[in-house]
Amino acid sequence: MSTQAAHPTLLIPGPIEFDDAVLQSMSHFSESHVAPGFVATFGETLSMLRQLFQSTDPAAQPFIISGSGTLGWDLVSANLIEPGEDALVLSTGYFGDSFADCLATYGAKPTKLEGPIGGRPQFPEIEKALSEKKYKLVTVTHVDTSTGVVSDLKGLVQAVKKVSPDTLVIADGVCSVACEEIAFEEWGLDGVITASQKAIGCPAGLSISIFSGRAMEAFKNRKSPPGSYFASMKNWTPIMQNYEAKKPSYFATPSPQLIHALNTALKQILARPLAERFQRHKEVSDKVKKAISDLGLQVVATKPEDQSHAMTAIYLPDGVQIPDVLPKLLSKGVIFAGGLHKQIATKYIRFGHMGVSVTDPSRTDVDKALDALKTSLEECGYKANA
Ligand SMILES: Cc1ncc(COP(=O)(O)O)c(C=O)c1O
Repeated sequence: MSTQAAHPTLLIPGPIEFDDAVLQSMSHFSESHVAPGFVATFGETLSMLRQLFQSTDPAAQPFIISGSGTLGWDLVSANLIEPGEDALVLSTGYFGDSFADCLATYGAKPTKLEGPIGGRPQFPEIEKALSEKKYKLVTVTHVDTSTGVVSDLKGLVQAVKKVSPDTLVIADGVCSVACEEIAFEEWGLDGVITASQKAIGCPAGLSISIFSGRAMEAFKNRKSPPGSYFASMKNWTPIMQNYEAKKPSYFATPSPQLIHALNTALKQILARPLAERFQRHKEVSDKVKKAISDLGLQVVATKPEDQSHAMTAIYLPDGVQIPDVLPKLLSKGVIFAGGLHKQIATKYIRFGHMGVSVTDPSRTDVDKALDALKTSLEECGYKANA
């Protein structure tokens, strides 16, 4: 039995439902951010992050910084690319577009390659773009939370290495880390940025990332200073290295309570094989996609290979509006999100299926949500097999 106050089940694509033990870790007594106990917890949390990213190279550098997922874009834009340099941004929705905006804010020159709505840019066009211009980095949104489209990171790194081996490959894993497989080193990625509140299952407030030795070298070799003070790798790298070596260190005060929560969440994740966790998210996602199809509905990500296992973006039937269906879902104890992709925002809703709602066998969140969706649509006048 959960000790949390009764509440509707939060099944938006992040923040997600949290485990009791993770939430309880946040009610830790106040401690100094340089006290030995906290330093040990922070150091252990960084080491566990390496495991989550399947990284064993000591030259790779994990970062945990107070902030949200967006701060990861700033880290990349302020440190790994210099004003006037080119970035190729692969966009599959709202978040890819925003990554491009962030790069431009720091003076980089983003070129966007977009897929059709519900699809993604294809390798031949990516290779063509890379062969036409020198790009310092390529960014890709692993799962774009506005469309539920997943990108093929492993294939992308292979394509980039073939055409432009010096180009860094950076993935936005905010909606994929801890539910979609990411073999950071084996695949040859140079950076993955994410946040605490999605599949990792820790309350919002932490920007979490890892960068390869090659990316850290690119940072060290930059000619101009980092474009940000708070998001400067120059300021944060020694702090992370000291914490991991269990030495006290200070640049800006971390949140000890959030670090405790992340520590608990990562221990829970790593207590089971990661492959099992990814498989479980896949099975539940397949079940959701089948239920949506049985209801006669379409998902935004058109091709099965482009459909993420973290969430499902579902087109509403003709005549059913978001302001009608979301309150009906809420009255059944389920919270979904509305649309976000600006061209189709009023036409679809988003169902997040990540973390404990998927992995905790004592929870029935996903079945409850599918039942609630069916009934709510019927109440809106929709007949599944009409
Ligand atoms: C794929 C993706 N990238 C970046 C972000 C930005 O993260 P945050 O809202 O935590 O700043 C989000 C947020 O939902 C996201 O889904």
